[in-house]
Amino acid sequence: MSKILLLGSGELGKEFVIAAQRIGQTVIAVDSYPNAPAMQVAHAFEVINMLDGKALDAIVEKHQPDFIIPEIEAIRTERFYDYEKQGYTVVPSAKAANYTMNRKAIRDLAAKELSLKTVTYRYATSASKLKQAVSEIGIPCVVKPLMSSSGKGQSTIASESDIEKAWNYSQEGSRGDVAEVIVEAFVNFNYEITLLTVTQNNGATLFCPPIGHRQERGDYQESWQPATMEAKHLQEAQDMAAKVTGALGGAGIWGVEFFVGDDGVYFSELSPRPHDTGMVTLANTQNFNEFELHLRAILSLPIPEITQERIGASAVILANGHSQNPTYDGISEIASAPKSDFRIFGKPSSRPYRRMGVVVTYDSVNGDVEKVTQRAKELVKKVKVNL
Ligand SMILES: Nc1ncnc2c1ncn2[C@@H]1O[C@H](COP(=O)(O)OP(=O)(O)OP(=O)(O)O)[C@@H](O)[C@H]1O
Ligand SMILES: [Mg+2]
Repeated sequence: MSKILLLGSGELGKEFVIAAQRIGQTVIAVDSYPNAPAMQVAHAFEVINMLDGKALDAIVEKHQPDFIIPEIEAIRTERFYDYEKQGYTVVPSAKAANYTMNRKAIRDLAAKELSLKTVTYRYATSASKLKQAVSEIGIPCVVKPLMSSSGKGQSTIASESDIEKAWNYSQEGSRGDVAEVIVEAFVNFNYEITLLTVTQNNGATLFCPPIGHRQERGDYQESWQPATMEAKHLQEAQDMAAKVTGALGGAGIWGVEFFVGDDGVYFSELSPRPHDTGMVTLANTQNFNEFELHLRAILSLPIPEITQERIGASAVILANGHSQNPTYDGISEIASAPKSDFRIFGKPSSRPYRRMGVVVTYDSVNGDVEKVTQRAKELVKKVKVNL
């Protein structure tokens, strides 16, 4: 059995650890604070600052894991190249972790090297260069720090007077050491999807049915599976996902994000790990959920097929304030609703908009995905996080 070092111990990590525990793997869960969700179900845990390369080296050396599995982006990922040289397996690969945490690296790979269709974009390293970039891209456009996630530091420029503000905001929300942003044309897309893609060491690249989602303040609010889309658009998305995951290398699940507009499918970005919108698979919409798929791929266990067993939706439970001891109201109410389920992540504290749990709903495969999504939206309103 293998020893897994999980870097990041949030709700996605927690479900991954549960999947790993079920088939007898050993997991050490790591994060910057104690009692993080995945630590609660792991064999052991470590509390370190994962952006500190020396601290990271020390726990790798201490545990000598068979697999180093990043669950978040905010890690000193440059160290991963060294770990690979030392013979460790980084999931899915050091290259994947490094490229995907930097918007410039992944965008240039996708657009220039692989010729995937992306929105028009420019980079800028100062407010005045941003002004120049905006004049080339046109208004409206979207500004994002090169290193950020969950919409941090991201804003839309609707008029010239927003440029200065957008620059300042990007600098507050940036995680990395680089003061650079990407500026993208604003896509008036009809809908957006996550295409969960599984790369295998000894098998074909597989795709889950597409997941639709709605974003607010940079985080997803509801997701549903399958997203209704034209067969040719799905095919385009699958082709792009196969190319980009192939170029990054390694085995595991990836959340590949696309926008679909009147003029077709745009590649947006991807995560080399389970995706938050993929929590819809916790409704058992598939024969294996996204965490089980990630695990199987990592362990080189065959995945004969991915089948859709139900349709489903997920809606997130958010906190509305700060608490060091959050409790929950309305759990009995959601538990009494048929064809639904929920998770409370067990986060030790809350802050405004922090994701504390998720509600999932489902129906048989020939059900109505819009109705299932509506049910999830209604149900989640019954839960209240007490401060
Ligand atoms: N160019 C764009 N045009 C229109 N909408 C956009 C554009 N870029 C991003 N968005 C919207 O903002 C959301 C977040 O953007 P993006 O995925 O690039 O940021 P992120 O911070 O990496 O998010 P996460 O890490 O949570 O996936 C997208 O899912 C989409 O809804
Ligand atoms: Mg995204």
